[in-house]
Amino acid sequence: MNNNSLFLIGNWKMNLDQPGTETLAEALKEEFSRLTDSLQLILAPSSIYLEAVKKLLEGSPIKIAAQNTFWEDKGTFTGEISPLQIKQLGIDYAICGHSERKIYVRETDEMIGKKLQAILKQNMYPIVCVGESFEERRQGKKNVVLANQLKKYFKNVRLSDKDFIIMAYEPVWAIGSGQACEPAEAEEASYIIKQYLMEMFPTELVNKNFVFIYGGSVNENNVTSFIDKDMIRGVLIGGASINLELFSQIIKLVLKISK
Ligand code: PGA
Repeated sequence: MNNNSLFLIGNWKMNLDQPGTETLAEALKEEFSRLTDSLQLILAPSSIYLEAVKKLLEGSPIKIAAQNTFWEDKGTFTGEISPLQIKQLGIDYAICGHSERKIYVRETDEMIGKKLQAILKQNMYPIVCVGESFEERRQGKKNVVLANQLKKYFKNVRLSDKDFIIMAYEPVWAIGSGQACEPAEAEEASYIIKQYLMEMFPTELVNKNFVFIYGGSVNENNVTSFIDKDMIRGVLIGGASINLELFSQIIKLVLKISK
């Protein structure tokens, strides 16, 4: 894995049923059968469809991410799914720290830290979300909020050279709102996130083993303006990733830049 690639992640959330999931995955497989390493296209279907999508995408360069994991490998944790179980399906990516999980199931930064460690333990690539709420931003607390999240997420994380982490700046107010962050502000936030990481880890490791992406109301009209920024190496897309026409359009735009 290297951070010269561009990363395009479609987070399908709980939006699609089984036929919807399989139809979309199949159509994308057909349309994008010849991607090279310069673009990592990653789909995050609901957990119950991970195995089906994995089978369906066999032979395709498209990758798969879990939307969530638990922090233990196994045990008495009713309803949870472990990184080990996900890894055994042949899946290499997992999202952690998405703000919807913080809002709807009260996931804390400490829990996210444990999940992050568990994902890395399986040699999977975490897609780690950080971002401030509208109110925090209004009060000028954005940087403090980002710093606190990062501190708690990475507190017990020991990184080695084989680890690779996708850091997604996802301002909560921009997610699903139709109001994306200004690309310049997203880039600045990525710099800030990188700086905080450099306080915790060796500079060389941060330079080599992290990549910075943006998420929040990305669509076919604004995707290029994010990817055009030096620091921003990809996007995490929710709403616009469940519509084949829109998502294909976005993928083609990013493909052009990646070449
Ligand atoms: P959105 O979702 O593209 O619908 O705003 C982004 C996300 O949840 O990461």
